[in-house]
Amino acid sequence: MTISLDAFFAATKDSFLADFHAPLAAALQQHYYGKPHGRTAEWDTALAALPTGNIEAVDFSQSRMSIPKPDDWHLDAVELKRNLMAFKPWRKGPWHHLGIDIDTEWRSDWKWQRIAPHISDLTGRNVLDIGTGNGYFLYRMLGAGANLAIGVDPTRIFLYQFAVAQQLLPANGAHLLPLRSEHLPAFKAFDTVFCLGVLYHRRSPVDHIQELMSYLRPGGELVLETLVVPGDEYTMLVPQDRYAKMANVWFLPSTAALENLLRRVGFQDVRTVDVNKTSLDEQQATEWMTFHSLEQFLDPDNPDLTAEGYPAPLRATLVATKPE
Ligand SMILES: C[S@@+](CC[C@H](N)C(=O)[O-])C[C@H]1O[C@@H](n2cnc3c(N)ncnc32)[C@H](O)[C@@H]1O
Repeated sequence: MTISLDAFFAATKDSFLADFHAPLAAALQQHYYGKPHGRTAEWDTALAALPTGNIEAVDFSQSRMSIPKPDDWHLDAVELKRNLMAFKPWRKGPWHHLGIDIDTEWRSDWKWQRIAPHISDLTGRNVLDIGTGNGYFLYRMLGAGANLAIGVDPTRIFLYQFAVAQQLLPANGAHLLPLRSEHLPAFKAFDTVFCLGVLYHRRSPVDHIQELMSYLRPGGELVLETLVVPGDEYTMLVPQDRYAKMANVWFLPSTAALENLLRRVGFQDVRTVDVNKTSLDEQQATEWMTFHSLEQFLDPDNPDLTAEGYPAPLRATLVATKPE
């Protein structure tokens, strides 16, 4: 068994996405159903042990994505916490499930707060979030008024973390597809495409930005958040090996270089709306994510440098429009 994605197909059968059901179903068959994860049985058991419900009136605009325990539910808090812990590491959040706070590695609400004031009003929009993680941002997008929030992320455990919330909620507009962006068709249909914290993991940034453009309708908006370095339009860091102990970081431009790249690919009205140095309060180990975190990724004698001697993590958000 594994998590079924039938609900996505049923919920979108009368939407613009129906035109893409065939390629999405084929991609899921090849990359998801056809490639079960080694821990599927363990995760299925933990998910089945967690409650299901139809908890209404959850406010998706809160910093902590909270699903309160109904007054007439009697749960064993110790067992509930143990089953939630089965899905460690919890990286993106924070969450609150039925009386238990899940303090994640990242304060993803801080990232959302930095981005939200600068983007087009999401009311009624269909949005796509590439590399969404566990779906925390999908709920925030619904909370900001989005009609449909489709997330894409290949990391299986994040699909389970999302399922923990989804099985407590009534049907809603959030859906997570366990795919890579490369597996998606060129929808040319989404009003807003988010790509937060993914670009530096891609070997070919130009191809990735072209992919992002191919998902948008003409006039649609791209919201791109990525690691950058200080410098001018000629500056780009390609780490020799690891960056902040991450093995899969390929490309850190300056904001000016990234703006150039977006314009070169064809985006208009390109602007950097936020630059933020990641703090030890925003990314840290917790009981829900017990591996090393930012503190161990920095030079112990100089927090302005990574352990490898590069500039410490600096994140920028850029907003751009696909031409009409
Ligand atoms: C650093 S996390 C960012 C998560 C979230 N968007 C955020 O900003 O906090 C990068 C995520 O991108 C996902 N990812 C990596 N390569 C991807 C790809 N080719 N397509 C879609 N997602 C990808 C990873 O599984 C991971 O969850």
